[in-house]
Amino acid sequence: MKSGAMRRGDAAKRAETSAKSGEVDVREFRASDGAAVRAFWKMSGIQIRPGDDDRSLAAFGERNPGLFLLALDEHGLAATALGGWDGRRGWLYHVAVRADQRRRGLARRLVHIIEQRLRERGCPKVNLIVWDDNAGAMEFWEANGYTRATTVEFEKVL
Ligand SMILES: CC(C)(COP(=O)(O)OP(=O)(O)OC[C@H]1O[C@@H](n2cnc3c(N)ncnc32)[C@H](O)[C@@H]1OP(=O)(O)O)[C@@H](O)C(=O)NCCC(=O)NCCS
Repeated sequence: MKSGAMRRGDAAKRAETSAKSGEVDVREFRASDGAAVRAFWKMSGIQIRPGDDDRSLAAFGERNPGLFLLALDEHGLAATALGGWDGRRGWLYHVAVRADQRRRGLARRLVHIIEQRLRERGCPKVNLIVWDDNAGAMEFWEANGYTRATTVEFEKVL
């Protein structure tokens, strides 16, 4: 049996939603969602990376109004998608769907909302990174009109 502390911990990790049974409610990230989204990403096979701490997530949401989306159902977080606009390119990060909600068009729905909002801001092109062993994600992106680039990613942790 779970301890009271565990139950309180679980509750604190749940992102708030008004979604009713069978409904999926899409809303923007709130600063209080950090722990819930990180728990969700770990469960959904998304690696927690630099920039996924509470302060960075809140800053990302503030810089990108309308683009940091959560989908919630009666069980809690069902999907996430982070859109970023730096004035030259749009970027997509952490598109993930809870296993029992996959292949119902949820990721496509969130990505389409972000693409539309990026277009409205004058964004001409969207980029994203996929781990090279993630064949399912590559098929998802191809099915949604994305093409594989021949570029190689470089990185440096600051
Ligand atoms: C990739 C992921 C986000 C797709 O979410 P989803 O909600 O299941 O995707 P959708 O239902 O919107 O899929 C739309 C279309 O993309 C394609 N597609 C999606 N997932 C696919 C998969 N695993 N294999 C092949 N094609 C896939 C299909 O054409 C699908 O349409 P269909 O179901 O009518 O055939 C989800 O599998 C996931 O969360 N994976 C783990 C996290 C991850 O790898 N994220 C990507 C990071 S780059």
